[in-house]
Amino acid sequence: MPDAAANFSLLQRTCSLVVVLCLLHISVTIVYYMRNSDSRQAFVQNQQSPQIHRKLAEQKVNTDDIKLPSPTNATKPEKKLETCPDNPPRLVGPLRVEFSDPVTLDLVRSENPALQPGGHFKPPDCIAQQKVAMIIPFRNRDEHLKYWLYYLHPILQRQQLDYGVYVINQGGKETFNRAKLLNIGYAEALKEYDYDCFVFSDVDLIPMDDRNLYKCYNQPRHLSVSMDKFGFRLPYTQYFGGVSSLSKEQFLKINGFPNNYWGWGGEDDDIYNRLTSRGMTVSRPDSIIGRCRMIRHERDKQNDPNPQRFDRIAHTRETMTRDGINSLTYTVVQIEKDQLFTKITVDVGKQ
Ligand code: BGC
Repeated sequence: MPDAAANFSLLQRTCSLVVVLCLLHISVTIVYYMRNSDSRQAFVQNQQSPQIHRKLAEQKVNTDDIKLPSPTNATKPEKKLETCPDNPPRLVGPLRVEFSDPVTLDLVRSENPALQPGGHFKPPDCIAQQKVAMIIPFRNRDEHLKYWLYYLHPILQRQQLDYGVYVINQGGKETFNRAKLLNIGYAEALKEYDYDCFVFSDVDLIPMDDRNLYKCYNQPRHLSVSMDKFGFRLPYTQYFGGVSSLSKEQFLKINGFPNNYWGWGGEDDDIYNRLTSRGMTVSRPDSIIGRCRMIRHERDKQNDPNPQRFDRIAHTRETMTRDGINSLTYTVVQIEKDQLFTKITVDVGKQ
């Protein structure tokens, strides 16, 4: 019996030791896990699909944007901000862009808390190199606009631009006039802010790589160089359609865009002619960085191919001095300020 009692006591002590070791192991694991959760998040960010990758990057932008007042901030003099770098540090490169999941404006609003009314943004941690107005010619494409805002706002914030989004909505039932809407966007944006660069973007085009910077360069820039619609290549060397950017100076040098291209086609070729006739060349990203997706759609009503376009393109050099920003006339019908954009409805007149 004494042997049995001794064995029992030994067993009891062994069990207690095992329990203590287990508790110790669990505590060490918890401490280790907590200390490494930050680096684990960074690892996940590098392993995930581009979309999740993008989401995480967005979250980073958004949390960085929130500045909590602290007693030290109150007493210290404000730190002078430096100019943003040439290569924005939070870019993630290729992005997955798809249009199968529905998107709501409320979702986009909640994902972009740093936006100011009218779809304005300034980087919180540096002074942007350029003030860029995003001009979108528009009519009856609300579904497309949601995707544009959903994808572009986070990209433009990662690109550290000081930007505003202007949706120029053609009111009435007259034939669509894309280039005139772009001229109006230029004029209206300048009434609000001292923009020095203008990006002109179709509402249905989404970049697939955030290294395609939506800003201005030494020469006018064509940004949508590699569209899925054209098999990810330029349809022709002089193509300047889709998305482009011009500095204020470049825009004025060509007297803006033509006002008399009614219906589909030709106005972008006219703009190309204007640029080359004033001694400028077109700058472009490479065909990988310049990849973009177009949202498929039927041809719009009141936007049939313009039969006069070939004749007009042939005479750009003669017409451009009298037809452009210097001859622009229109009436503003309504201005709507959303968190995500400024929508300006205009009467562009008749054909
Ligand atoms: C039209 C352009 C258009 C291009 C690509 C050309 O024939 O004139 O306006 O952007 O085709 O579709």
